Amino acid sequence: MWLGKSAVVGVGLSKFGKREDASLRELAAEAVYESFQDARDIEPGDVEAVIVASSQPERLVVQSHVAPLICEYLGVKPSKGAFRVESACSSGGVALRMADIMIRSGEASKVLVVGVEKMTEAPRSEVMTTLSIVGDKDWESIHGITAPAGFALAAQRHMLEYGTKEEHLGLVAVKNHANAELNPKAMFRRRITLNEYKDSPPIAKPLKLLDCSPICDGASCVILTDAEDARKYNDTPVVVKSITQTTIGNSSTTVDDLTTWKPLVEAASRAYSLAGISPKQVDVAEVHDCFTIAEIIEYEDLGFCGKGYGGRFVEEGQSAIGGEVAVNTSGGLKAKGHPIGATGIAQVVEITLQLRGEAGKRQVSGADIGLTHNLGGFAVNHVVGIYGRMT
Ligand SMILES: CC(C)(COP(=O)(O)OP(=O)(O)OC[C@H]1O[C@@H](n2cnc3c(N)ncnc32)[C@H](O)[C@@H]1OP(=O)(O)O)[C@@H](O)C(=O)NCCC(=O)NCCS
Repeated sequence: MWLGKSAVVGVGLSKFGKREDASLRELAAEAVYESFQDARDIEPGDVEAVIVASSQPERLVVQSHVAPLICEYLGVKPSKGAFRVESACSSGGVALRMADIMIRSGEASKVLVVGVEKMTEAPRSEVMTTLSIVGDKDWESIHGITAPAGFALAAQRHMLEYGTKEEHLGLVAVKNHANAELNPKAMFRRRITLNEYKDSPPIAKPLKLLDCSPICDGASCVILTDAEDARKYNDTPVVVKSITQTTIGNSSTTVDDLTTWKPLVEAASRAYSLAGISPKQVDVAEVHDCFTIAEIIEYEDLGFCGKGYGGRFVEEGQSAIGGEVAVNTSGGLKAKGHPIGATGIAQVVEITLQLRGEAGKRQVSGADIGLTHNLGGFAVNHVVGIYGRMT
């Protein structure tokens, strides 16, 4: 049994946004082809296993069994199989974790991990129902709770307990839109001002339109190999130091503290310990800002700042490029976009570019250690990954 490490040798991302020009399989292919151009001496036919993260293609594009479907379109016949992972918004993070486990266990040495979601094709009412049934249909969704409403409760509580202000939420959105302007693949490549944020329409108090991640289409891809072979396929591979996951249940009743996400604290603590690093060593992080309040809580629960200081952390510019830890340099879910299944893998695409020094105008100088955090459901399911440059 091989219990070494896996490494990223190729990454690809489709353009995110309303992609009327591409079907689900075409979006996936866009990201996959880019990842094979990024790697060297490896072809789609060489991969042994394919894992596809896609949250609800049955409802969004009326198609199931999407992993074999995408393999057929790519002309790939993986000898160790193809399968789909569904874990709501954390589908991508879980798919990467499965791929890492397959490689470290010796089951496969080359795994293709693809994330894809096409959310803009179905009628909007169908999309909203699809998103809301991630919650407990019988006990919660049926009463009308949606993702914005759930995260609004966390925002209200954080404001009450820690004095977090509307401006703090707004500064997360302003930062992430500014980063997205520098990312050619982002959905919203435009800066916003704090006043524009304040004037945006209310969604679920205190959250406004510009606190929310959008409904969007997109795909992402990562080629993982065992770290010992990685230099054959890329001059600058990125090592997976650890990927952990913690789940506490599904309904919001399992979250006993709206402002400290205990499963995140637990997943992060294990990820740091397995990687042998402390939060202060993280140079760049892609975290799950499905709503701006989530990014503020995540600064705290990932240990970037103390509990209750998340608002001040963004206000002081500590999460901006050039700050203590650059967070969501891609534009994050807020401004790059959040095609559900693609998100967790897209986070690793950005971290890989950053650690290789290839992030262009949004490059974090001297980035050595990167972190990803992918969340599913009402903050009930968390995946944390730590990545480093191969020395
Ligand atoms: C916030 C939300 C309700 C807005 O939906 P909507 O009111 O139907 O908005 P529309 O799609 O009709 O877009 C209206 C305008 O707002 C813009 N817009 C939509 N969502 C936006 C967002 N999140 N940020 C910035 N602008 C946004 C659109 O581009 C459009 O602009 P235009 O008029 O200049 O073309 C919807 O994006 C949403 O539900 N987001 C959360 C998704 C979610 O829950 N994901 C899972 C997270 S756990």
